[in-house]
Amino acid sequence: MEGLRTDQAPPLAIPGAFFLTAPMALVAAGVLALVAGPDGLSTRWSPPILAITHLFTLGYLGSIMLGAMYQVVPVVAGVPVPGARAAHAVLAGWIGGVTALVAAFLTGDPHGFVVAAALLAAAALGFALPVAVALAHAPSRTPPVLGMKVAMIAFALVVTVGLALAGRRAGLPLPAVDFLALVDGHAAVGTLVWVGGLLSAVSWQVVPMFYLAPAPPTWSTRPAVVLIATTLAAIPGVVLLGGSPLAVAVAAVPALGVVWVVHPAVTIRAIVGRKRKRADYSLRFWLAGLAFAGLAAGLVPVAWAWEPRGVLLLGWTAAFGWAGLVTHGMLSRIVPFLVWFHRFSPLVGRVRVPSMRELLPESRLGPALALHGATVVVGLLGIATGIAGILGVAAVLLIATGVALEVNLARTLLRRPAG
Ligand code: HEM
Repeated sequence: MEGLRTDQAPPLAIPGAFFLTAPMALVAAGVLALVAGPDGLSTRWSPPILAITHLFTLGYLGSIMLGAMYQVVPVVAGVPVPGARAAHAVLAGWIGGVTALVAAFLTGDPHGFVVAAALLAAAALGFALPVAVALAHAPSRTPPVLGMKVAMIAFALVVTVGLALAGRRAGLPLPAVDFLALVDGHAAVGTLVWVGGLLSAVSWQVVPMFYLAPAPPTWSTRPAVVLIATTLAAIPGVVLLGGSPLAVAVAAVPALGVVWVVHPAVTIRAIVGRKRKRADYSLRFWLAGLAFAGLAAGLVPVAWAWEPRGVLLLGWTAAFGWAGLVTHGMLSRIVPFLVWFHRFSPLVGRVRVPSMRELLPESRLGPALALHGATVVVGLLGIATGIAGILGVAAVLLIATGVALEVNLARTLLRRPAG
């Protein structure tokens, strides 16, 4: 934990509340998928597909990433997030905004998009402004800090374009650009730069720290930030100049190569070469998630050739396979650490304190990994074949994965010293 400012950490209730919200989005997505059945797969623009997409990207991944930023920025960058206690209001706005957006996609009601946009804009500003102030004052210029800065710019961009897209659904005009290129750019910046940039930056810090793996080689970190930032600059440039979806895809290549090819390969190598050889389940989540990054890269040409199924296969693999498994594994390690750090570390030497592993035992993580992995695989089969029965099983598995994660997090967060 060298160089980390754990004295700057926010109260446990802040990241804890965001993390507990995330699995509920998985359950909601599973219920929606169950109700929608194969009809939802007819086009990438179908209401259930857009609703489920945002339950994953905003409800699940977004809640985890916002909660993690409140925790990681002060500890890694050494600067507290000003007014962090307002995070509870941000979370309330975020939950309301995501719920309203999902409802608006499903009903098509223009007023629903206005309400969703207002709530999401307020929550995103309430989150991004103080975090940006903290990052701007960070004395450190390490790749994790630079990566977080790039990810925050991407967050601002993807939310702004998302709000413009929601405004269009409410009847407002969009700038004169290629609409498909704009939506593809929104999805690519969100997935590769906001999600991929942040996952990479945080992994450079946490993989060596939690798993005693060798630090990532410098050739793989600073250039990675530059390449991810290249995509972040290129995509809006291409879209504003009236470029086509193909031009957006070309602009996405630098970040895609980093987050779906180089970062997974380097991280898997580091995990395999670590000092402590015992593989626990949280590491297996990482390995599985990183392997799905490779599959996502391989599915890009399929997405071009096979509309809409290829796009859906790619989205499912990226959101629930790669990012979903990595974040699930990260929570399985970070939440017991935070509970131990806040509640038990002051008691060390005075009474017997449980180990981090006892706070979230392996026996609970094994079934969660099995459920999550099975959901990804059965979901891929269901999307590829369109068979109602397989899609139904995938939806039930998705609900079960959300419940397993929620139970594991809640049990760990409820642990307090006796007496
Ligand atoms: C405030 C936040 C956001 C809002 C209001 C929003 C809104 C929208 C809207 C309205 C559309 C549909 C466009 C249309 O058919 O009219 C859309 C598409 C999409 N958004 Fe978002 N979005 C947000 C954030 C995100 C984030 C953070 C991600 C990814 C990490 C994301 C990924 C996608 C994807 C993958 C699509 C579908 C593109 C396709 O069909 O291929 N969105 N978004």
